[in-house]
Amino acid sequence: MAAKGPLRLGTEAPTFVADSSKGKIDFKEFAADSWVVFFSHPQDYTPVCTTELGAFAKLEPEFTKRGVKLLGLSADSTERHEGWIKDIAEVTGGQVNFPIIADYDRTVANLYDMIDYQDPTNIDHKALPLTIRSVFFIDPKRTIRTIISYPASTGRNASEVLRVVDSLQAGDKYKIATPIDWLPGQDVIVANSVKDPEAKELFPNFRTIKPYLRYTALPQA
Ligand code: BEZ
Repeated sequence: MAAKGPLRLGTEAPTFVADSSKGKIDFKEFAADSWVVFFSHPQDYTPVCTTELGAFAKLEPEFTKRGVKLLGLSADSTERHEGWIKDIAEVTGGQVNFPIIADYDRTVANLYDMIDYQDPTNIDHKALPLTIRSVFFIDPKRTIRTIISYPASTGRNASEVLRVVDSLQAGDKYKIATPIDWLPGQDVIVANSVKDPEAKELFPNFRTIKPYLRYTALPQA
């Protein structure tokens, strides 16, 4: 199964039914009205993936606070996922409580264009390509809002994934954008679409560095 067209920012996230470490998952029902961070792992019992899943497991309460469900994917069976999840807890101290899709035939990886076309060594025992490290940020309307892709050899940064969620959610709530290396609590940029008179109403204390670069604080949550 392939995606109907290219998956881009603004595209509706394709839905699917698949086995997972938490039983059968209907993606549409799983996502319901929540944000979802959906991320792929090449394979179970691999070192980089083990460290990543431990980190995501430890950060899961922060995602939950923001109304975000985590959903992993790895190209192995649910039985292998079960054993691996025990290893992850032993090695990292992180207990994976979110589902990991068992994508042994790459149906879902193909649907989300997660297949590795770059690294000829990133293949399974049948020489079927495994996945890259994709991260899809999907909003409560099931719209894809951000996509990040890493090669299999580069572990992700779980804090960066959380930071992107914070930026997307702040941008949905206020007419702002977030600058380089922004973290919650720091000043944001007044959106370009907001002219000064409106900016004065929305952000009375905004400051202008250049007409195109205006900073403001946001109310603390
Ligand atoms: C890893 O998780 O360590 C890994 C998996 C596939 C290819 C390269 C690294």
